[in-house]
Amino acid sequence: MIPQKHTGKVAVVTGASSGMGQEFARRLANEGADLVLASRHPATETEQMVKEAGRKAVTQSCDVTSADDVQALAEATQSQFGRCDILVNNAGIYPFQPFAEMSFEDWRKVFSVNLDALFFTCQAFLPMLKQHGWGRIINVSSTVCWSVAPNVTHYTAAKMGVIGFTRALATEVADAGITVNAVAPGLVRTGTTESGEQSEMFDMVKQMQAIHRTAETDDVASVVSFLASEDSRFMTGQTLSVDGGLTRF
Ligand SMILES: NC(=O)c1ccc[n+]([C@@H]2O[C@H](COP(=O)([O-])OP(=O)(O)OC[C@H]3O[C@@H](n4cnc5c(N)ncnc54)[C@H](O)[C@@H]3O)[C@@H](O)[C@H]2O)c1
Repeated sequence: MIPQKHTGKVAVVTGASSGMGQEFARRLANEGADLVLASRHPATETEQMVKEAGRKAVTQSCDVTSADDVQALAEATQSQFGRCDILVNNAGIYPFQPFAEMSFEDWRKVFSVNLDALFFTCQAFLPMLKQHGWGRIINVSSTVCWSVAPNVTHYTAAKMGVIGFTRALATEVADAGITVNAVAPGLVRTGTTESGEQSEMFDMVKQMQAIHRTAETDDVASVVSFLASEDSRFMTGQTLSVDGGLTRF
């Protein structure tokens, strides 16, 4: 068999049962990785996709806001595969709430899933990532950090935190052979965006982008795959916008 981009690698994807997480898992498996699928909901469909790609999949129920669940996820990864090379912190929530109506509980919940979870996963997986002197951490932020939208102050602040965390952690783990980067997608078609308030924004966002079409999950998965690969070896602490040119720096 011809080696693929991720042959011999084990990738952990959080929020792998749907949307972008599902596509990230499928893409990494199609390119040779075995997968640990972490999800609150059964990731049966994703598991099937990984198996169809001829790779191994382990599914683990995991609420990323629970330190115990994340520790159990790391232990399951170690016992099933004995290694972790790629960690994709994808799980996230993005409820629309005007700031004036937002409770501190609402604020904390959004921070807890989108940012605090990275504390748990990175702490739990770094020892394994360090084992082979090579590792990739990929965090999912959002271009909302620059494009700025109403009713998502908590989400925007948390995703900005993801960028800061990415930059800071990159400095601490580079000597261990680990890179830490983030992707910042624009508005991407997923089950959640199609059924939520974002569904009314597709046409407007498409017009604002340089590339006038709606982003599909695979548009982001290809960038995640690049960041997960050896090809991105001299990049760390970076955030790549994947938004059809909605934001341009
Ligand atoms: N879709 C977009 O337009 C868009 C744009 C920018 C960034 N993002 C980010 O991309 C990521 C994926 O979003 P999506 O659009 O695919 O949404 P989605 O709702 O399809 O997927 C999110 C996944 O996270 C999981 N999840 C939520 N809370 C969790 C928890 N506490 N523990 C474990 N899993 C949990 C959900 O079950 C789901 O599988 C999120 O971080 C989101 O903020 C999405």
